[in-house]
Amino acid sequence: MTSGRPPAGLARRVAQLQPSATHAITAKAKALEARGIRVIDFGVGEPDFDTPQTVKDAGIAAIQEGWTKYTPPAGLDELKQTVVEKLKRDQGLAYHPNQIVISCGAKHSLYNIAQALFDEGDEVLIPAPYWVSYPEQVRLQGATPVIVPTEESEGFCLSPAALTRALTPRTKAVILNSPNNPTGAVYPKSLLEELGRVLLDHHCVIISDEIYEYFLYDGAAHWSLPTLLPDLVGRTVIVNGVSKSYAMTGWRIGYAAGPAPIIQAMSSIQSQSTSNPTSISQKAAIAAIRSGTGFVTGMVTAFDQRRRAMADGLQRITGITCSLPKGGFYLFPRVSALFGRRTPSGQPIQTSTELAAYLLESAHVAVVPGGAFGAEGYLRFSYALPIEQIRTGLDQLRDAITALR
Ligand SMILES: Cc1ncc(COP(=O)(O)O)c(C=O)c1O
Repeated sequence: MTSGRPPAGLARRVAQLQPSATHAITAKAKALEARGIRVIDFGVGEPDFDTPQTVKDAGIAAIQEGWTKYTPPAGLDELKQTVVEKLKRDQGLAYHPNQIVISCGAKHSLYNIAQALFDEGDEVLIPAPYWVSYPEQVRLQGATPVIVPTEESEGFCLSPAALTRALTPRTKAVILNSPNNPTGAVYPKSLLEELGRVLLDHHCVIISDEIYEYFLYDGAAHWSLPTLLPDLVGRTVIVNGVSKSYAMTGWRIGYAAGPAPIIQAMSSIQSQSTSNPTSISQKAAIAAIRSGTGFVTGMVTAFDQRRRAMADGLQRITGITCSLPKGGFYLFPRVSALFGRRTPSGQPIQTSTELAAYLLESAHVAVVPGGAFGAEGYLRFSYALPIEQIRTGLDQLRDAITALR
């Protein structure tokens, strides 16, 4: 195929589309398992906990009660109202239900925001390391993702100076994600305020992906930008969902809250594409959000123990340096010191992708290469798996890395 030209029949916009690296790793791990090989999957992006029973019961009751038909494309009024109450409770923000759209996951909300807002020529600022889907969703609209690197020494948080440098008259939006996937960084209140003050002077939209809001450790707090700077409410879209907080990744319910014109546009896009998110899942999501934070607090207690065990184990492996982030359920250690080494069979390791491939093949440990998140030289480890598996995985990892020449 000639570079730059799509294969026959496919639209130009998919020519450069990258499939999700995280899904790709999971698929490879599953393929090995199908051959009878036990893989320790540090690639997973979902809690290993089961969906709470009360939420399952709400889903079952929805089926029994006949909630099996279309709902309004943008979601049930009852769920929108539940989201309104949640945003008041947790963020102190007052929304009207017509400022809420329910989607098939936060990823779907983000995609619809991109569809609703971005045209060719628009620039969208994305701090790196970033969640894999942001740049691809921007590119799919013909807009330009502008990657703004962050420093490990600054906790992988966007600095006000870097933000100021990256903003141009063409900047249509900035995507913020705290707690962050893949780094686990939690933006401190003071930093968010500073970033917000920079953004006050630039008329762009702020997309705030808060899907990990409850996954906090060591006393860290989560802040929404519009809570801190109410002047930004009118051009911020908050994205969230039940996937991570209620272990409901398969139910596919996310939502967005923001200015009515953007939300109306997203709703129209849904009405012409997916229609409503699954009616049964919507009823279950109402039960989940109304249940508050007890369930996620229990998960976070378990994750905290794993986070420490995992970071400690990684630190002890020569060639890996790992900090202890305060959010999410990922660690993002630096592994570039291993580049230039060779596998026992003589293959050189030059990139995070080659290292991840070696670890999967020889240690049967799945991790996601940092390059997929715009940060070559790092690997992403999820610690959303039982502590025994973490320990076994760390042993296998250490042996494979020690075997590098
Ligand atoms: C930062 C971030 N945003 C959004 C999502 C999408 O979540 P959902 O399952 O609700 O689509 C994920 C899932 O991995 C994520 O890590």
